[in-house]
Amino acid sequence: MPGTGADEPDHRTRRTPPGRIGPADVLGVPALPPGRVAVLGNRARAGLARAHRATAPPPARVMEAVLGGLDPAALAALCRLDVPDRLVRPTACADLASELGVDASRLARLLRYAAARGWVRIDRRGRVRPTRVTAFLRRDHPGGWRAWVEFAAGDEVTAAIGRLDAGLPADGDAFATANGTSFFAWMQDHPDRHTAFDAAMAAGGRMHGLIVAHALDWSASRRVCDIGGGDGALLGVLLAQHPHLEGVLLELPEVVDRAPERPNVTAVAGDAFDTVPPGCDTYLLVNVLHDWDDEAAVRLLRRAAEAAAAEPSATDPRIVIVDSEAQDRPRDDLATRADLLMLALTPGGRERTTDQFAALASAAGLRLHRTHDLPTGDVAHVLVADR
Ligand SMILES: C[S@@+](CC[C@H](N)C(=O)[O-])C[C@H]1O[C@@H](n2cnc3c(N)ncnc32)[C@H](O)[C@@H]1O
Repeated sequence: MPGTGADEPDHRTRRTPPGRIGPADVLGVPALPPGRVAVLGNRARAGLARAHRATAPPPARVMEAVLGGLDPAALAALCRLDVPDRLVRPTACADLASELGVDASRLARLLRYAAARGWVRIDRRGRVRPTRVTAFLRRDHPGGWRAWVEFAAGDEVTAAIGRLDAGLPADGDAFATANGTSFFAWMQDHPDRHTAFDAAMAAGGRMHGLIVAHALDWSASRRVCDIGGGDGALLGVLLAQHPHLEGVLLELPEVVDRAPERPNVTAVAGDAFDTVPPGCDTYLLVNVLHDWDDEAAVRLLRRAAEAAAAEPSATDPRIVIVDSEAQDRPRDDLATRADLLMLALTPGGRERTTDQFAALASAAGLRLHRTHDLPTGDVAHVLVADR
């Protein structure tokens, strides 16, 4: 995601009218920046991070890395205590502690850490103030990003990350080593955690729905299928922006069972490796291919290509992949982190470069037609049949 400027008190966060998601809700910016600006912004942030690191001696860098593991735990603790929801105005730490029923001096230490990370702010009078990040962590925030904190703090996730080394053999699966079975099979047996995962995916889905609604041309499109589209959040936002569209959500049966009904969206329970519903002009794979190794990713693309070719449509069908874009030279960015998370959670998933996506497309009988830089710093690859 691009940098969104300095932290500001919550009352300055602009919200779109209820019922309609806007850039302030999903990204915290008043308008979506051009994709190129996001790319340059992310590159600049990675450069600043490199410069910041270069000023520290190696032992400090080792210790910063070791203690960096406190970040997710502190964020999860803050959310479990309900600090983001309670902290709506400048508040003395002692008052916040008594409202939360915890020890004031201990809470002050957590809040100092949170302030150092920019999740809250402590003013000159020692009062704790919400920042734009605090607002995004509230339960009622329309972006829903707090769900990512709740998902990532799950024992199964932290256990898999703790066994990252087990993902390194060619057939390794860190998640299965730590939890007994691979990610989606485990989720099937743990519906409460699967629901937490769905909610985290829905936060990304809302953001990507808005992004693809603006980044791609939908004027000739009529029917769009979101393959592995989670609870349909992406389609909900996309169709609100382009009401002439109809949506088809293809998901695992248990996800479809939990998904809310959405106007003009048909939910299909199935396995995208078996068959993908025909009759759509656009097939979306958003943060789906990165869950799978190359062989499985090609199979998914083939199923999508078969569905796209099965019925004539008014416009040339397209398959759109949205994933983080891996760089040939690693950067300190979300894509590099996401790639390592895939190594921890999936048996062969990974983030890919544009050339690697082009190779997958070609193996599936498709061709990379266009690449769009997105305001999130992700990339949309548009594939068409390779006639
Ligand atoms: C990483 S999530 C991405 C969700 C959503 N597209 C997003 O960007 O938020 C991958 C999704 O693929 C779904 N999925 C996994 N295996 C599948 C399969 N065999 N057929 C259909 N969907 C599947 C999962 O349930 C999950 O919702």
